[in-house]
Amino acid sequence: MKTTINEAKKYLNQEVTIGGWLHNKRSSGKIAFLQLRDGTGFMQGVVVKAEVSEETFQLAKDITQESSLYVTGTITEDTRSDLGYEMQVQSIELIDEAHDYPITPKNHGPEFLMDHRHLWLRSKKQHAVMKIRNEIIRATYEFFNENNFTKIDPPILTASAPEGTSELFHTKYFDEDAFLSQSGQLYMEAAAMAHGKVFSFGPTFRAEKSKTRRHLIEFWMIEPEMAFYNHADSLEVQEQYVSHVVQSVLKNCKIELKALDRDTSKLEKVRAPFPRITYDDAVTFLKEQGFDDIEWGDDFGAPHETAIANHYDLPVFIINYPTKIKPFYMQPNPENENTVLCADLIAPEGYGEIIGGSERINDLELMEQRITEHGLDAESYSYYLDLRRYGSVPHSGFGLGLERTVAWISGVEHVRETSPFPRLLNRLYP
Ligand code: 4AD
Ligand code: MG
Repeated sequence: MKTTINEAKKYLNQEVTIGGWLHNKRSSGKIAFLQLRDGTGFMQGVVVKAEVSEETFQLAKDITQESSLYVTGTITEDTRSDLGYEMQVQSIELIDEAHDYPITPKNHGPEFLMDHRHLWLRSKKQHAVMKIRNEIIRATYEFFNENNFTKIDPPILTASAPEGTSELFHTKYFDEDAFLSQSGQLYMEAAAMAHGKVFSFGPTFRAEKSKTRRHLIEFWMIEPEMAFYNHADSLEVQEQYVSHVVQSVLKNCKIELKALDRDTSKLEKVRAPFPRITYDDAVTFLKEQGFDDIEWGDDFGAPHETAIANHYDLPVFIINYPTKIKPFYMQPNPENENTVLCADLIAPEGYGEIIGGSERINDLELMEQRITEHGLDAESYSYYLDLRRYGSVPHSGFGLGLERTVAWISGVEHVRETSPFPRLLNRLYP
């Protein structure tokens, strides 16, 4: 019977064949322990000299790291392993022998590992991070489908800039100029006027010269947009969505969280509602904490966000930022016209901003004024202004950065480990 490591528990005390790779091994004169992986998981194969042919035992001793093989044997219970079972190997068929696999069990530096990203993905921790990323994506679709959102795909080649003109990737579009999408938001607003509640999930690009553990040049964003939702309504969706994602990973990725040594006690607590603090109060709080560098009107940096997040130990919304440090489309706060109806959601444990969101200006004149003030080309926003000309309604939305969310939930230090092939400031390979 052919099966896979994750399915093998169905065949307890039966003989099965699994196609996989040799991850690692230990052997003595009488017994060899093969750490096998097949993409669905990692499993131990035990080869006992007295119970197999001479050739099989010799092969088990000689086989090299990352050689591909078929192993046949009986699945038996093993309460010591995370998996709960292992294989008593009877025979091994070598498919391809690997020579001098570059990533050995010793420690390698991050640049070496990034140069070998195409192979590094096979390691136990990197495998776990990608599984968690996959679960976050699955839980995202589940959440928005269950809540009657329609998935709409905005374009990637665009003519306008939602998030400021300084971070755009320029390209030619035949004879015209085009930019890789920084955010699908403006198109999602159009989609919300057609479908009510919509969400997108796709790649976005920022030509940002930032080299931090939170910045990628290419990252994936989930962008919901909701007609007839004010900003408070949107915050509720955000906290329910993030709670759903975290709880789904806790439930469905136990083996992966363990492989990453993730302290899950902090994740267990992540349930809606999340605390909220105004930008004004956050500035006061930071001054009290001894941050003398911060003045009202400044944007927060990583140390500021971390100080605020540590105070709550939960994801926290910082609401109503100053108008002048936010993009052109945000609705003014009626209680203080120098601030806008927006929020950033700051993840705990120093992972920083994972969501940016706001209520959108729905008044045509104010929107025209803001486009002019920001020095944007009104003509390329004509379609966007049409949404304010024909049946404008209050609406809100947000964008969640997938890689930062994966980093936080997995507990990995740097976003480069959360993308299969990350695009970084100095890296386009592999
Ligand atoms: O705060 P941002 O720039 O917001 C927007 O783009 C809005 N248009 C979204 C919306 O309202 N529909 O980006 C949203 C999120 C951030 O909170 C962060 O998680 C992630 O996208 N992000 C990045 N992730 C990795 N690398 C970068 N360079 C990122 N820039 C933003
Ligand atoms: Mg932001």
